[in-house]
Amino acid sequence: MTAVLHDPAAPAARTPIRRHYVMCPPTHFAVEYAINPWMRPDVPVDRGLALDQWEALRRTYVALGHEVTVVDAEPGLPDMVFAANGATIVGGRIYGARFRYAERAREAELYRKALVDLGPYTEPRYVNEGEGDLLVAGDVLLAGTGFRTDPRAHAEAARVLHRPVLSLELVDPRYYHLDTALTVLSDHDVAYLPEAFSPRSRGILAGRYPHAIHADPLDAAVLGLNAVSDGLHVVLPSAATGLAASLRDRGYEPIGVDLSELLKGGGGPKCCTLEVRA
Ligand code: ARG
Repeated sequence: MTAVLHDPAAPAARTPIRRHYVMCPPTHFAVEYAINPWMRPDVPVDRGLALDQWEALRRTYVALGHEVTVVDAEPGLPDMVFAANGATIVGGRIYGARFRYAERAREAELYRKALVDLGPYTEPRYVNEGEGDLLVAGDVLLAGTGFRTDPRAHAEAARVLHRPVLSLELVDPRYYHLDTALTVLSDHDVAYLPEAFSPRSRGILAGRYPHAIHADPLDAAVLGLNAVSDGLHVVLPSAATGLAASLRDRGYEPIGVDLSELLKGGGGPKCCTLEVRA
């Protein structure tokens, strides 16, 4: 058999970029209320296991060379582990969060205190759940709405973060935050679940990302799209095996992690991870 030396279909080499992440341990994690369809207060949570799984995620980032800043968890805020919702940080500017539900409202101030020294902080006027719904893709912000973030926050985020915004409407309550339905893989590359978006938003995504990975609904249903990419390595739920294979085909290195306990709160790796972009 002749070796193929130059495969024209081979993906270009991917380059990882060192990242700075903020995380908050699930010290007080619980499912005591239900604000998304994943949350079942009647199903027990193993907090010790949640802590172990979270620690494995933190170590994965450190092993990849990333910096991780850990914010203290606060009693009475069982969802605070989902740090992505705490703010959006781009170009050193911090756009604060304002939570949709009273159960999480106090987190906004705690994340403000934890982040305010990193750069100028703007208090938001409109409801927005940070990087849960505001994803940075190269020069643009992909902004979700439909369940949590107020569409008026999209224009506010654009103003505060000096980035154009592309608004996307989510239509499936299981994919209530943009980061459960779409992963930014690199500046110009995303993976997403088309069915999670309104027809109009699907058209916008297809136009902007004609070569995007369309996730299998089975991978999305284990929150496979709730993934964190550094440009090469993609940390994603280990159960999302189909998505991992698609990523490998395109020259990414998928790294599966098991966050089964945090999935009971409706979150995966990306939810636990807030990126600080200098
Ligand atoms: N229980 C949390 C909530 O419903 C989960 C948040 C997940 N975070 C995320 N970035 N998708 O608010």
